[in-house]
Amino acid sequence: MGKIVIAIDGQSGCGKSSTAKAVAKILGYTYLDSGAMYRAVALHHLNHPFELTDQGSVQKALNQVKISFQQNPKTGKQETYLNGQNVEDEIREMKVSQNVSKVAAIREIREAMVAQQRALGEAKGVVMDGRDIGSVVFPNAELKIFMTANLHTRARRRLEELSSMGNVTTLEEIKENLAERDRLDSSREESPLRKMPDAIEVDTSHLQFEDQVNQVVQLAREKI
Ligand code: C5P
Repeated sequence: MGKIVIAIDGQSGCGKSSTAKAVAKILGYTYLDSGAMYRAVALHHLNHPFELTDQGSVQKALNQVKISFQQNPKTGKQETYLNGQNVEDEIREMKVSQNVSKVAAIREIREAMVAQQRALGEAKGVVMDGRDIGSVVFPNAELKIFMTANLHTRARRRLEELSSMGNVTTLEEIKENLAERDRLDSSREESPLRKMPDAIEVDTSHLQFEDQVNQVVQLAREKI
């Protein structure tokens, strides 16, 4: 069976990551959460502030940031490490969500992340989710999915997810954050979020999780 690259792009909180993870598991592929990488840089920026508009400061900060992923042997879950520290839970907190889009808009930061993402996906057999996977990271991906869902549904799902992790927040705060990130991510100059002409749109607003996973798996099997 051949191996392909599956790119899943879309707005914040529409179910890209959980779908991508489940698809990777079914196909025996590697999953890569590109958003986690931008979140890790945003966390570094919060802990060690640097001037985002100054190229020298950005470069210096990037030299101090080492991002890696490791599978938790107990849960089997892939977790994000920043300079050797497990930051998986911290990068999902609201303080990072509120900081990440301005960090991700910086060209030098994107270039560094894209280079790592390409290296990780080189071997094929990968499902990667983000905002620019089908447009910039893997423009030749065999399968490109553009995921959407209405804002209310996305916020409701995210609230459930965050609450289960013990994070205290409200539906309104989440809605505001998702809408603001969509605005920044779609309007930025560097690699804005957009649907590629060869991407297949999957609207998850009224789909059960299993159905959205099956749809993507089905589309992948047609290409493999
Ligand atoms: O996917 P997630 O919502 O965790 O991504 C967090 C943020 O990282 C996005 O709102 C966006 O600003 C940025 N991002 C990006 N390009 C990607 C993945 C994420 O700019 N490929």
